Amino acid sequence: MTREQRASPAGAVESLEIGAEVDVDVERILPGGMGLAHARGQTLLVALAAPGDRVRVQVRGMRGGVAFASIEEILTPSSVRVVPPCPYFGRCGGCDFQQLTYEAQLAAKVEIIRDSLRRVARVEPPADIPITPSPDAWRYRARSMWQYDRRVGSLGYYERGSRTVCDVVECPVIVPELQAVLTTLRERVSREALPEGASDIQAVAGDADVALAPSVLTGRVAEESARTVGAERYRFNADCFFQINHGLLAPLVDAAIGDMTGDAPAGMRGQRAVDLYCGVGLFTLPLARRFAKVFGVEGNATACDYARRNLADAKLTNAKIEASTVGAWLTRYATDLSPVDFVLLDPPRAGAENETVKGIIALRPTRIAYVSCDPATLARDLRKLLAGGYEIASIAAFDMFPQTHHVETIVHLTRTTVNPEG
Ligand SMILES: C[S@@+](CC[C@H](N)C(=O)[O-])C[C@H]1O[C@@H](n2cnc3c(N)ncnc32)[C@H](O)[C@@H]1O
Repeated sequence: MTREQRASPAGAVESLEIGAEVDVDVERILPGGMGLAHARGQTLLVALAAPGDRVRVQVRGMRGGVAFASIEEILTPSSVRVVPPCPYFGRCGGCDFQQLTYEAQLAAKVEIIRDSLRRVARVEPPADIPITPSPDAWRYRARSMWQYDRRVGSLGYYERGSRTVCDVVECPVIVPELQAVLTTLRERVSREALPEGASDIQAVAGDADVALAPSVLTGRVAEESARTVGAERYRFNADCFFQINHGLLAPLVDAAIGDMTGDAPAGMRGQRAVDLYCGVGLFTLPLARRFAKVFGVEGNATACDYARRNLADAKLTNAKIEASTVGAWLTRYATDLSPVDFVLLDPPRAGAENETVKGIIALRPTRIAYVSCDPATLARDLRKLLAGGYEIASIAAFDMFPQTHHVETIVHLTRTTVNPEG
């Protein structure tokens, strides 16, 4: 009898419980990055798995009848399994896809998007969802959040599923400029403790400088960074969001609003555009070159200041940055502004709030571009937008986060003639 068929004395198959060990075949990777497997009539989610692996796993937790398991032994490795190069992999909570070839990572991400669209948005995905690979599968991250534990002096990232700091000497996914600052910071930490309160350290690299928040390395880093994307220059600092994979920014902007050289698809030029969750204006600046009037809405005051400054530096006077939560701004102004030509939204991982989706539908844009870093919340929001009178025109994926299960997706939607919700 195999481990997965073990029966109780009465003949019934034992259900899985915490601590149980079973041998399973990993079928595919699910949204969230876990491998799907089945044993004893139950579903298992296996961490750090590769599709096609045969593995011995131990159940570590149970939730809603689903067993969460970790690999004890790889019995037969998948053909797409590779040896993770990072010595911290498995312990560090940063990466969860290093066990896959890069091609398998890309394929798994497209499957994650498909799965989310089918199960959450309840829509059949297009036959082809193109995914643009990252120019660099390693040393691509231009932003990091380092954790510091002053009791033991460790500096790095949280361990998987815990608040213990994994002390990291070298991180293979951050850009060399960030690695140099991490090394300098580690040298300082080995001599003296960082100030009280410096437990979460944001580091962000631009074309020339690295900025830190809080600024725990005076004299060694800059107050702010800057990055040129296509024809635009953006300033930002570590207190506000800027996309982490700079190698993919130009194609991402092109895919969201049309070719930066001016060849915008129909619907990406016109009178009024709204850029929701605009950050420091990554999309606001190129939008302001295409539309007569642009509204950018952003909740982070520092990002708003940079967005205004970036527009001013580019001599763009036709865009207004609104410092507000998106939901509140839409609730207040959507009816007055409606209809607009184009809405771009790029929310954080949690997706758009209910009032935001309602507000977008009330704006009645001819076209929407939804830029998302989480397929599950994207699919949840798409379902509402589809019910609100929109249909999917195209879907494209961008591998902004190699070595992790995360993926950036851009969905273009067009308004159907009738809005079923009025
Ligand atoms: C994924 S980032 C996108 C930023 C920008 N579009 C870019 O690509 O650089 C999401 C942005 O939304 C902002 N944000 C998060 N929740 C918000 C809310 N409820 N209302 C307004 N802005 C919000 C964050 O500060 C962040 O700048």
